[in-house]
Amino acid sequence: MPAEVSQRIDGHRLWQRLMDLARFGATGKGGVCRLALSREEIEARAALVNWARSIGLKPSTDAAANLFLSLEGRESGLAPLLIGSHIDSQPTGGKFDGAYGVLAALEAAQAISEVPERPRRTIEVVAWMNEEGSRFAPGMMGSAVFTGKRKLAEILPVRDRAGVTVEDALKSVLDAAPDIARRPLGFPVAGFLEAHIEQGRTLQDLGYTVGVVTGIQGKRTFRVDVIGEESHAGTTPRRARRDALTSAVAMVDALQKAMWDEGDTVRFTIGMFEVAPNAPSVVPGKVHFSIDLRHDDSTIIERLGNAIAGLCDSTRGKCDVAVRELLYDAPLQFPEGMRSHIAGCAERLGISHMRLQSPAGHDARYLHYVCSTGMLFIPCKDGISHNEAESIAPADASAGARILAEAAFELANQ
Ligand code: GLV
Ligand code: MN
Ligand code: MN
Repeated sequence: MPAEVSQRIDGHRLWQRLMDLARFGATGKGGVCRLALSREEIEARAALVNWARSIGLKPSTDAAANLFLSLEGRESGLAPLLIGSHIDSQPTGGKFDGAYGVLAALEAAQAISEVPERPRRTIEVVAWMNEEGSRFAPGMMGSAVFTGKRKLAEILPVRDRAGVTVEDALKSVLDAAPDIARRPLGFPVAGFLEAHIEQGRTLQDLGYTVGVVTGIQGKRTFRVDVIGEESHAGTTPRRARRDALTSAVAMVDALQKAMWDEGDTVRFTIGMFEVAPNAPSVVPGKVHFSIDLRHDDSTIIERLGNAIAGLCDSTRGKCDVAVRELLYDAPLQFPEGMRSHIAGCAERLGISHMRLQSPAGHDARYLHYVCSTGMLFIPCKDGISHNEAESIAPADASAGARILAEAAFELANQ
């Protein structure tokens, strides 16, 4: 029976949907800018819902605008199996980060729907709200509130740069599709499977088609506010200034040096840096910047993250500084049962596979805290991701979907 499921995966249909979804928020350089809860994402959600309805899946959503597309199982009393990822992107994102996992899940659900006997459990394709955290920080908001890791009330007041709150943005998304059934936020789940592009180059370099993900490295994110005083660039002597940019540059320099390691295992990124008022003849009065720190070793991420506030304080000069931690996710390992289940499906289908740890973050992290969770990766050309040039091979996309379909079908029958 399982082989019958994977044979029904239609690689052309999957690829066509990937290309169609990429039209929502398409950029000039072949990528996607589909920020969480944006107009582009509303349109992409509508396309997903149309595909789902056309193959007999029932759409529903919750107060966090997580989108579920359900293939009903034989036993309605059993907790469903969730499969999916996210469809929001970075501002200069690619076509496949997240979108691949959702559309591979849709393809898997379609293949399973074509098998004569439905699985015992309902299978729900899910698109989690705001995985990327680019417009509203931190990311993985939908999966965090679904799993109770964060409270809905905590995320509602978060604002984007234009001052729009998550609450208002959620309302526009939910209002745009009033015909989609609403469900409670958070319900019992039997398991979660997420397929994703690797976003690194291990599979490509070692020549494997699929990665069975062992776990996810730890991540801490911070926001730093440096407060000085605006003053006249022509009349204010250098010694009299409280220049927020000069202080922030000293902090960045100290942080970059402290976070450097010979083995190059620490991931340390300052990806956002805002200067105010950002005017050529005004001494900067404020700087706001982000810190993204990642490591696989819990003691290292603990030690390095804990040093950040002190480093900023000791280099602030005459300015004030406030360091706020937005998120602290420890390194994690997925259960061996799920890893060997995915590896077993790949083995049976004759698809080459290896195990690897994910350096990138995924919604699977939060699902892991509440249900049996597993992930699989497909190769991503030259490891390029969070970049409009992101690219994958159609044959790999199809292979990943075949494994996902097998793995989901078996789990939904347990
Ligand atoms: C996910 O997009 C991440 O930043 O790891
Ligand atoms: Mn992603
Ligand atoms: Mn991403």
